[in-house]
Amino acid sequence: MRGRRDRPARSSGRAADIAVPLGLLGLLGVQFLPGTSVNLFTPIPPADAEMAEMMGNGPLMGLHMMLGMILAAGAGLGVATALPSGRRATACAAIAIGGILAGGLGGLAFLMGGQSNGASYVMAAGFVAGVGGYVAAVVTVH
Ligand code: HEM
Repeated sequence: MRGRRDRPARSSGRAADIAVPLGLLGLLGVQFLPGTSVNLFTPIPPADAEMAEMMGNGPLMGLHMMLGMILAAGAGLGVATALPSGRRATACAAIAIGGILAGGLGGLAFLMGGQSNGASYVMAAGFVAGVGGYVAAVVTVH
């Protein structure tokens, strides 16, 4: 009879270990384009505007905010699928979710806090952390 240690490595997690970070990488790529377009071409409402007014401020702004929320939920799924796969996968997912949440907070801080360059930079840096985390996750799966 085989003991616990002799069992073959779980293979059921492998597809998710690649598919989830790859999907989130794709979403981050999509997120980049409306974000940069908003930066360059969209006038931002004043800081005291309602959230609905912010989201309704052109299709790109609404899309970017909605994708930000989908990314945050997806990053949670990324951590949940990485946890059973070990410390390396979990560390990658943690770096990525940190970047995505920081990006979201940076975006909200930008809209509500007078459009500071610092908040805009936090979003750009969060984007890089998100991409870096998921690229590392894909590269380290073997
Ligand atoms: C609901 C959450 C979010 C809001 C309200 C938001 C809002 C914005 C705004 C207003 C801009 C234009 C900034 C400017 O003109 O300087 C922008 C740009 C950008 N956003 Fe977001 N964003 C959100 C979430 C995210 C997330 C989660 C990411 C990725 C991690 C992200 C990545 C970017 C990038 C790469 C840019 C272009 C570079 C920059 O201006 O920093 N955003 N976003």
